[in-house]
Amino acid sequence: MLSETTATALNSSRAALADLPPVTSDSLLALIAMAAADPRADKIDVGVGVFRDATGQTPILKVIKQAEQVLLETQTSKSYLGSAGDKRFAELIRPILLGPHATDDRIAGLQTPGGCGALRLGFELIRTANPEARVFVGTPTWPNHAPIINSVGLEIVEYPYYDRASGGIHFDAMLESLASARERDIALLHGCCHNPTGADLDDEQWAQVTRVVSERGLLPFVDIAYQGFGRGLEDDAAGLRGLIAACDEVIAAQSCDKSFSVYRDRVGSLFVKTGSAGTTATAMAHVFQRAREMWSMPPDHGAAAVRIILDDPDLAAAWHVELDAMRDRINSVRRRIAGADPRLAFIGKQFGMFSMLPLSREQVVALRERHAIYMADSGRFNVVGMADHSIDRFVEAVVEALDG
Ligand code: LMR
Repeated sequence: MLSETTATALNSSRAALADLPPVTSDSLLALIAMAAADPRADKIDVGVGVFRDATGQTPILKVIKQAEQVLLETQTSKSYLGSAGDKRFAELIRPILLGPHATDDRIAGLQTPGGCGALRLGFELIRTANPEARVFVGTPTWPNHAPIINSVGLEIVEYPYYDRASGGIHFDAMLESLASARERDIALLHGCCHNPTGADLDDEQWAQVTRVVSERGLLPFVDIAYQGFGRGLEDDAAGLRGLIAACDEVIAAQSCDKSFSVYRDRVGSLFVKTGSAGTTATAMAHVFQRAREMWSMPPDHGAAAVRIILDDPDLAAAWHVELDAMRDRINSVRRRIAGADPRLAFIGKQFGMFSMLPLSREQVVALRERHAIYMADSGRFNVVGMADHSIDRFVEAVVEALDG
């Protein structure tokens, strides 16, 4: 019979999980936890990207509550829907995202668990089709882009994007970098409301990027998670639609998490355009297979609520009103901050939930420690993360930090 010590030793020499390396936790998720744990009553959490109203709350949209009531009363089964999720949901997102291209039979889409699931699935498809593809990613970008791309094993090439000094875009350097890509490389682009900088391409810049991408034979992959938060639903999708018009192959990862304020319900979709309906059908067969391997089927509830809204003209109209109100608040807070100091004026020219303050990591940490203001180490802050009554205090603390 084995002694207890020998048995333990044998056991640990066989232990499969004992040598796991430590993990650096996701910085944004760590920030949520840090802000939540801060006991100071006047703390300002402008870290993670959730819309907050003038009182500092993230309310459930009235129209979502109405749709959930309909769902409660009419849903008769929770049986499986399959890897495509709610097909009617994806059909209803099509015209919002694709506009005049909604009827193009070379484009197909499916429901995904949020925009993040759509990104992962899109990169899985690329890896399956062309593991040699390199993904051109602007700097800086959403902190989860690189981990997702790395997790599927694709190589990343960075292109310059944000110019911290001007609050604008290093546009010539961006174009030059994209022009150096190999045919069939991927250009990852933010459809609107650039996360983390708020610096969006203007129409002329989109046209030039589209020309380079199509001339070089690149595959544009558009991450569009904030449609409706920038210049409006139509204008925010214009860059994506221009690429669809010009390129045979386009991938788009879409999210409703922000525009319908259903963050934790994880509501998104992936759309794929190829050169023919037949190729798209083959691509989608791969997409369904990858989805099956990863999550089998997306969660239903949030997408079902969005489907109920978009399928009902009155509810859809009510959603537009609530979406417009969120965008108006974003833009009015932007104007207020921009008007407070000339060094913050760039914030008034940017779009969406985020801007990036020209602060060092030390200054960001000092704001956290001295003023209970929580923003990402990069200086990214959520423009609508704070209640109206906190804006002056936020601006004063930031100006003090900029003064050094
Ligand atoms: C953000 O950038 O704050 C949001 O997209 C939330 C997230 O998942 O990172």
